[in-house]
Amino acid sequence: MPIIPNIMRAVALDRFGGPEVLTLHTLPVPIPDPDEVLIAVHTAGIGVWDVDIREGWSPSGSVQFPLVLGSDGSGTVAAVGANVDRFAIGDEVYSFAWDNPKGGFYAEYSAVPSHTVARVPEGLDLEHAGAVPVSGLTALQGIDDHLHLTAGETVIIHGATGGVGTVALQFAKLREASVLATAIGEDGVALVRHLGADQALDGRRNDIAAAARGYAPNGVDAVLAFAGGDALERCVDALREGGRVAFPNGVEPEPKPRRGIVITPYDADAGVAEFERLNRAIEASRLEVVIAAAYPLSNAAKAHERLAAGHVLGKLVLRVR
Ligand SMILES: NC(=O)c1ccc[n+]([C@@H]2O[C@H](COP(=O)([O-])OP(=O)(O)OC[C@H]3O[C@@H](n4cnc5c(N)ncnc54)[C@H](OP(=O)(O)O)[C@@H]3O)[C@@H](O)[C@H]2O)c1
Repeated sequence: MPIIPNIMRAVALDRFGGPEVLTLHTLPVPIPDPDEVLIAVHTAGIGVWDVDIREGWSPSGSVQFPLVLGSDGSGTVAAVGANVDRFAIGDEVYSFAWDNPKGGFYAEYSAVPSHTVARVPEGLDLEHAGAVPVSGLTALQGIDDHLHLTAGETVIIHGATGGVGTVALQFAKLREASVLATAIGEDGVALVRHLGADQALDGRRNDIAAAARGYAPNGVDAVLAFAGGDALERCVDALREGGRVAFPNGVEPEPKPRRGIVITPYDADAGVAEFERLNRAIEASRLEVVIAAAYPLSNAAKAHERLAAGHVLGKLVLRVR
């Protein structure tokens, strides 16, 4: 049995603000409730929404400082609550626990509801597993549950170089769709080609609607959007009558409503069945999890500065241990 200390290193904020408010703290190790799992965190994902929370957005409306960020990550099971029988000490797991009142993954330990935890899928090490829970669930649910994408359909993945987009592109190929991916810059276009896009476009330089019409003369079937604004409107222009758009909440500006087009905003769900489906998709697609950079926990502020600089290809992560 590993010995669990009473205190841990965590990056937390004592007030809202810029990256500089992310500082190393010594905090009590959270104690798991009966339905929770205590994870000895290996890798924490850094999300673009972490910046909003750092600057003062509170998903639940209640904030307690010191606040530990981090909605997803990976690690090994250090302890389980009395009602948890799906996991044993030492299991390698990954988790998406949104707005966790016990604190996030920017810490050596995190106590999370057991239904938000799953075994690491085959083919991923702990670092890559820690980068993928939110992105994987968001990507897969967009494709299967909100777009209902089927084999042979054409889909524009808009913003395909980001954390979610790099995964969504590969899952759309797994579902045998024909994928037109938008990216920014030559490096972005090269990345989405490498990940399997059938057609790749620079979303700032190219006329997306014209290129899409060349690609799918009768109109594109669906758009999965991870970036908003004018370029997204041009993607929607390329849809056929009855076409579908899905985007996770947070994409802004949101697409404008249009006659004959179904637009679905959604939030990613974490649950036992959701993770089982994600594990199957990761294993079947031999998912390449794209990590742009990994920072030690103590450099969380630097990682947020990197996020603010933009053009992150894939995901940023924190190496906690
Ligand atoms: N509600 C939920 O459950 C949920 C879950 C996950 C994510 N989200 C939201 O989903 C969005 C995507 O998340 P993410 O983690 O993938 O963010 P991200 O890593 O920032 O990805 C967005 C991508 O879009 C690209 N992009 C921006 N403008 C573009 C354009 N005109 N043409 C082509 N590409 C363009 C960006 O490229 P550059 O970096 O080069 O600009 C970036 O790669 C965020 O708004 C996030 O808040 C919501």
